[in-house]
Amino acid sequence: MKVLMVCLGNICRSPMAEGVFRNKALEKGIELSVDSCGTANYHVGEHPDPRSVKKSKEHGIDISNLIGRQFSYSDFRKFDVILTMDQDNYRNVIALAKNEDDIAKVKMTLNYSYPGNNMDVPDPWYGGEQGFEDVFQLLDQAAIAFFKNHFNE
Ligand code: 4NP
Repeated sequence: MKVLMVCLGNICRSPMAEGVFRNKALEKGIELSVDSCGTANYHVGEHPDPRSVKKSKEHGIDISNLIGRQFSYSDFRKFDVILTMDQDNYRNVIALAKNEDDIAKVKMTLNYSYPGNNMDVPDPWYGGEQGFEDVFQLLDQAAIAFFKNHFNE
């Protein structure tokens, strides 16, 4: 299975999500291809925000080498599941969909852990350190629920 994590800038939330999901797959011995991107182009070519790198490292995950890129239509062809961090990202991705198959691939990340709530992973960009820890915990819970849902483990 190939999964794409999507946020706005691809420097705070989605690179952390990429690291969390990849790490869980490795721990569980599940073959999962994970990538991330942003709906905006502000940070294309950049490494993740240092605050996201630090927080991931505290939890044993190295995301320092990831490189920001922007979502494009071809991602609908390349990925089986597209997980958006918030409702703005969801709308922006859906706006590029061309058919029902495309639309069916797009899900709110936290609907795995909080089904049907359409909860956002809050954007930590303007906040402090605690915001990044909160994002990590939300993503960790979502990853646990994702692997239960798709792989029954
Ligand atoms: P992200 O956070 O979408 O989680 O990567 C943001 C990164 C950059 C900006 C906004 C949010 N920005 O406005 O540049």
